[in-house]
Amino acid sequence: MYSAIRHLLFQLDAEKAHDVTLKSLKVAYQLKLLPLLIPKIPDKPKTVMGIDFKNPVGLAAGLDKNADYFNALSGLGFGFIEVGTVTPRAQVGNPKPRLFRLEEEKAIINRMGFNNKGLNHLIRQVRNKKDQTTLGINIGKNKATPNEKAIDDYLLGLEAVYPYADYVTVNLSSPNTPGLRDLQFGDPLRQLLEQLKTKQQSLASIFNRYVPMVLKVAPDMADEDISDVVDALLSLEIDGLIATNTTITRPIPDNTLHGNEMGGLSGKPLMPLSTQAIQKFYSHLGGKIPIIAAGGITEPADALKKIEAGASLVQIYSGLIYQGPDLIKDIVRAL
Ligand SMILES: Cc1cc2nc3c(=O)[nH]c(=O)nc-3n(C[C@H](O)[C@H](O)[C@H](O)COP(=O)(O)O)c2cc1C
Repeated sequence: MYSAIRHLLFQLDAEKAHDVTLKSLKVAYQLKLLPLLIPKIPDKPKTVMGIDFKNPVGLAAGLDKNADYFNALSGLGFGFIEVGTVTPRAQVGNPKPRLFRLEEEKAIINRMGFNNKGLNHLIRQVRNKKDQTTLGINIGKNKATPNEKAIDDYLLGLEAVYPYADYVTVNLSSPNTPGLRDLQFGDPLRQLLEQLKTKQQSLASIFNRYVPMVLKVAPDMADEDISDVVDALLSLEIDGLIATNTTITRPIPDNTLHGNEMGGLSGKPLMPLSTQAIQKFYSHLGGKIPIIAAGGITEPADALKKIEAGASLVQIYSGLIYQGPDLIKDIVRAL
């Protein structure tokens, strides 16, 4: 059935199709149709970072930036859902068009630029959510905030989402906010993570609840940068790593339609690069903190490769667009 729906949706502009799909899903949820349309997914519980996940397949950040569709997306059977990236203040993101399907390649290029309704809106949404699915909240900085002040935005984000999140993701790896990725390296990274760690510890004692904090990284890191990031993660006792975000490289044929658009590439062609990054991080981390895999999973065998490379959990985004919600069940069964 999904291939027929996809055929219709792919006639629309990519961002329009995204909105139509999510709105339709919400209506189906409200009419209580989802249990009839979506097969029951067997529980496959896994405990990671002290959190009990009902299954190891999550939704990656960026699909539900404002947590407007959390309940409906939970109805698809995800073991966890990561909402955001949310920035302190609402922002419109980059001019449209900014989302492109590379159909032949089962890939997507996006340069959305953290379009979102801001922290206050997201908090209202997660406060009123009905579903109990594990919730990750992914935080970022506003475009207008200079890198020297980035920490202020991340501290605001962590403080605001802490009471509602099961885990918090610090996103320094989007290619669509100018300069953001510079914060992934060296002193800027250490300073940022150090202050966030201090804040996390004080929030844990205020709320009497420890909420793990993970770092989301790009797949485009040199080997020496990877070992530097790992040193920072281990010495500052960061709880986990999400590998990876989209790539600025183009591991696709030269003549691919939309292949030259600016932005981050996701989907099938990202799979090798992103999995290599997991292997490298895993070899340095030695299993001391868990890795959540994202990047190029379009079939169950890909998810297995991520686990073999050292991941504990997986997330999907582009694969869901190309394969539909059955992919969740298929991966859960295969794992
Ligand atoms: C349209 C789009 C928007 C995204 N927005 C975000 C975002 O706001 N924050 C983030 O951390 N990752 C974002 N991502 C990256 C995904 O979470 C994921 O890391 C990446 O797409 C690789 O997974 P995939 O190959 O399964 O899509 C976005 C991806 C896409 C395609």
